Amino acid sequence: MSKKTHVQTEINGEGIEFLCEPRQSLLEVLRDELHLTGAKEGCNNGNCGACTVLMGDRIVNSCIVLGVEAEGEKIETIEGIATSEGLHPIQQKFLEHAALQCGICTPGFIVSSKALLEQNPTPSEEDVRFWLAGNLCRCTGYHKIVEAVMDAAKALNTEVADNA
Ligand code: FES
Ligand code: FES
Repeated sequence: MSKKTHVQTEINGEGIEFLCEPRQSLLEVLRDELHLTGAKEGCNNGNCGACTVLMGDRIVNSCIVLGVEAEGEKIETIEGIATSEGLHPIQQKFLEHAALQCGICTPGFIVSSKALLEQNPTPSEEDVRFWLAGNLCRCTGYHKIVEAVMDAAKALNTEVADNA
């Protein structure tokens, strides 16, 4: 049995420490050790985006990041996106546009979309499709997902204008 490594990190704004084996992926640590099961295991080889989380300001596929690489990082997972006040506008728009069916891909799409709208609050449809190219969905056919993200951008911009 390999020796476990102590890792200190921040997940969804909270300081977290865990022990993990050097071979364990960040996805395994999140799901199996920390019981944050929002990030999903689709392909487990970096192709589908179901396991997407933010590490610092980078979008990563947590199935191909090692748990030990979380040392000193700030990680955001789908569990950190809704607040006590309710769903994030992107989550709300996914519901309104019926942009999900089985839901396996949805946490990854939402984490990626949030990162997009933080970097580019007024993306074109092409921008959204290009940005989300690393997230695969076997159910919805993508159109509703793109519509939901475009609509979420509008809702977020209206929120910003109302608060100005
Ligand atoms: S499960 Fe990580 S990219 Fe598919
Ligand atoms: S909703 Fe099923 S894979 Fe996307």
